[in-house]
Amino acid sequence: MGAEISVDELTVRYRSKNGNFVDALGPISIHVEAGEKVALLGPSGCGKTTLLKVAAGLLKPTSGRVLIDGEEPDLPRRRGEIGVVFQKPTLLPWRSVLENVLLPLRIRGRTDDRVKRKAVNLLRAIGLGGFEHSYPNELSIGMQQRCALARAMIQSPRVLLLDEPFAALDEMNREMLNFDMLRLCEPTHITALLITHNVYEAVLFSDRVVVLSARPGQKVTEVRVDLGPARDPRLLESERYYEHVISVRKALRIPRLMMAS
Ligand SMILES: Nc1ncnc2c1ncn2[C@@H]1O[C@H](COP(=O)(O)OP(=O)(O)OP(=O)(O)O)[C@@H](O)[C@H]1O
Ligand SMILES: [Mg+2]
Repeated sequence: MGAEISVDELTVRYRSKNGNFVDALGPISIHVEAGEKVALLGPSGCGKTTLLKVAAGLLKPTSGRVLIDGEEPDLPRRRGEIGVVFQKPTLLPWRSVLENVLLPLRIRGRTDDRVKRKAVNLLRAIGLGGFEHSYPNELSIGMQQRCALARAMIQSPRVLLLDEPFAALDEMNREMLNFDMLRLCEPTHITALLITHNVYEAVLFSDRVVVLSARPGQKVTEVRVDLGPARDPRLLESERYYEHVISVRKALRIPRLMMAS
């Protein structure tokens, strides 16, 4: 079962190497319910990756906080309850596909036949059946991202954080991977946060789209995606889907209007 994510008055200020401060994010508050899927849309540089890093327990807030089921993210991260997929696949080139997927468990000394079977099943479910013993440089970028997704899911996380995972893919591949990911997530009731620049992907994947302003990113508005939990390819040809796409496109104009005023 998924965990809830509470982003509460979060701000992040970086100190760059030249000594200047960069206000990267916030203050921002977002509440993601257990099992909910939220897409984050916002202009480049507004602090989306920064927010994801704090939620993953990889970066400390400057002020405010993120809690995962009431705990600092560092704790669930150490327990393997947070799966992360970055924009680049970040696989280890000297390990096979199967070994890359098993890596989080190897680090914790928890690989047995059962988890190996789980890894093989995950790879099959994500379209990489038969490639278990290939190496990352023998795979396309789309296949590498599939592998990274299987690695993020191997510990059955309660939270899945996705930072533009399919940005480098062509439209058809991206669509297929989105449906594979939805199928993988559905039985787990996982809580998911997806960063994307793609309005179609945001609507297809989420229960709610949150729109951020330019840096430092603040929540401008949100659009509820009322398309039910089961999403299948026919949805992409429905009017209801496009109505939501249009609503999100309109919502995206709000930050630009704010900047112009
Ligand atoms: N380690 C860092 N040190 C200093 N500034 C940083 C650091 N990381 C990010 N920034 C700055 O913080 C701001 C937000 O960066 P972030 O990567 O979170 O944006 P983003 O919304 O993910 O952008 P994109 O959509 O292009 O991926 C940017 O202005 C960036 O230059
Ligand atoms: Mg980013």
